[in-house]
Amino acid sequence: MTDEVYQLKPVVSAADWRTFHRLRRVALFEARGRFGHYRDDHPDDRMVDNQPLLLIHAGVAVGSLRLDRLDRRRFVLRTVVVDAARQRRGHGGRLLALAEGHAVQQGARQLLVNAAPDAVGFYDCAGFRPGAWRDPLGASGKSVQMIKAVGPDDSKT
Ligand SMILES: CC(C)(COP(=O)(O)OP(=O)(O)OC[C@H]1O[C@@H](n2cnc3c(N)ncnc32)[C@H](O)[C@@H]1OP(=O)(O)O)[C@@H](O)C(=O)NCCC(=O)NCCS
Repeated sequence: MTDEVYQLKPVVSAADWRTFHRLRRVALFEARGRFGHYRDDHPDDRMVDNQPLLLIHAGVAVGSLRLDRLDRRRFVLRTVVVDAARQRRGHGGRLLALAEGHAVQQGARQLLVNAAPDAVGFYDCAGFRPGAWRDPLGASGKSVQMIKAVGPDDSKT
């Protein structure tokens, strides 16, 4: 979960949780004009198959996501964010690459995402392609479902 300057760190301490919630609240809610809607006590964040992760760059938390195991081979990337003041500097690409490596280590052969319409290009750059999958949590009508095959070539589906 580490390269030269970046680290993908599980959210563990109270300070980690505060950072994780701040990053998501600002980038996914307040930047879209939705104030007062973010919940920092959502039970899905604490489920055993769901892994909240922080992207640390040079010691600073610059992004986060939640990696949810859907089944043995498929993992979902949820609430992918980079700090609003640090976007378009390559952090998001590193976040996806490290999350992919982390998922592959756990047996992933597909990564799935419900992409916000304005983030489709970002996932496309990382090798995701439009493709339908059944989300047990449901998907917003506006989001675009995308899939990326990952892991050893002979196991890709
Ligand atoms: C989407 C987000 C995570 C991207 O993070 P980022 O750090 O800005 O992305 P990067 O700088 O690493 O960009 C990686 C690549 O994606 C491209 N890219 C980034 N955002 C893009 C966008 N909105 N549309 C098209 N391409 C995009 C970059 O040009 C770059 O391409 P390159 O590798 O060819 O240079 C970030 O903008 C964000 O947090 N947005 C708000 C929350 C959000 O919408 N999250 C997605 C929810 S599904």
